[in-house]
Amino acid sequence: MLTLGIETSCDETACAVVKNGKEILSNIVATSLEDHKPYGGVVPEIACRSHVESIAPVLKKSLREAEVSLDEIQLIASTYGPGLPGSLLVGLSTAKAISFAKDIPLIGVDHIQAHLYASLMTDRPPSFPLVGLVISGGHTSLLWMRDVHRFKRIAETQDDACGEAFDKVAKMLKLGYPGGPLIEKRSREGNPKTIPLPLPKLNETSLDFSFSGIKTAVLYKVRELEKVQGTRYKVQGGNHSLPPSIVNDICASFQHVVIETLLRNALLACRRYHAKTLLVGGGVSANQKLRSAFQTRFRNEGLRVLFPPKGLSLDNAAMVAGLGYRLYQKGIRSSLELSCEPLGVR
Ligand code: KG4
Ligand code: ZN
Repeated sequence: MLTLGIETSCDETACAVVKNGKEILSNIVATSLEDHKPYGGVVPEIACRSHVESIAPVLKKSLREAEVSLDEIQLIASTYGPGLPGSLLVGLSTAKAISFAKDIPLIGVDHIQAHLYASLMTDRPPSFPLVGLVISGGHTSLLWMRDVHRFKRIAETQDDACGEAFDKVAKMLKLGYPGGPLIEKRSREGNPKTIPLPLPKLNETSLDFSFSGIKTAVLYKVRELEKVQGTRYKVQGGNHSLPPSIVNDICASFQHVVIETLLRNALLACRRYHAKTLLVGGGVSANQKLRSAFQTRFRNEGLRVLFPPKGLSLDNAAMVAGLGYRLYQKGIRSSLELSCEPLGVR
């Protein structure tokens, strides 16, 4: 079965054609990232306008690359939440228009579930139940999953999402946006032990995350070091740029403590729920240091951890098409009245 996936929940306009939920025939992603950079984060109005401009060319390209025509598509899967309302509407309305005009079944897909489904697009998918860890720019959650679409939320972030913390720390260090890949790059040259940061305390009853303490610790450290630099070089005020080697060390230390926090809570969740496998999804799962730390620790504990294949960590439509197909197989359908859910389905 050929599924067309459409994803426009944030700043990526993405379309993909996927065969039988796994075989990716095309996976096209256009991004308005450059337009948001001057603002240090995604501007919803800019994202929305960019989707309107990009959706038709991206759709055409995805069909061309898959070497299929719209008449051959048998299912349309579109993200309907969570995400930016205006952005979601562009993708969802496009999906509905095609569904109506071509009489193709429509299925609405949850963006968070799609991120986790990306890790199942492998040759050796694990069996349920399992634990899922979503680490994206907007969400940080642990889920107890009975199936691709049936889950219970075990833990959530109490403040910033994990990717958001990377973005904010990168801003503090004047590295640019998005922060995740920039911090990962600078960390490779840094030493996490030079400027140690505290691991957030764990509440006995909850596995919830909190990144605001780490973020504030970085802020105080940056201010203190800037002051030292200012005094050393007789520069007035606390805004003196830090030497690259110190920035590298702060990045390495921040990345280290974030990975340790995620690892600790994810391992505890697997133990508490007797899960043998952890699925990881979302933009932060692209981080290579995080991947290797998880692989090593999970292997040592006799557990399995699965990450999205290359190109499926960040927002994309292949994961949406893949999950849409699985839901369709389970008899789930959406009507043309389907509305977007900016906050997601709770
Ligand atoms: O899943 P995603 O593409 O969009 C949302 O659904 O939010 O995630 C984007 C987030 C951004 O905050 C970005 O800084 C972070 O993922 N990110 C990374 C890396 N690549 C992207 N964080 C850490 N390391 C990376 N290599
Ligand atoms: Zn996402």
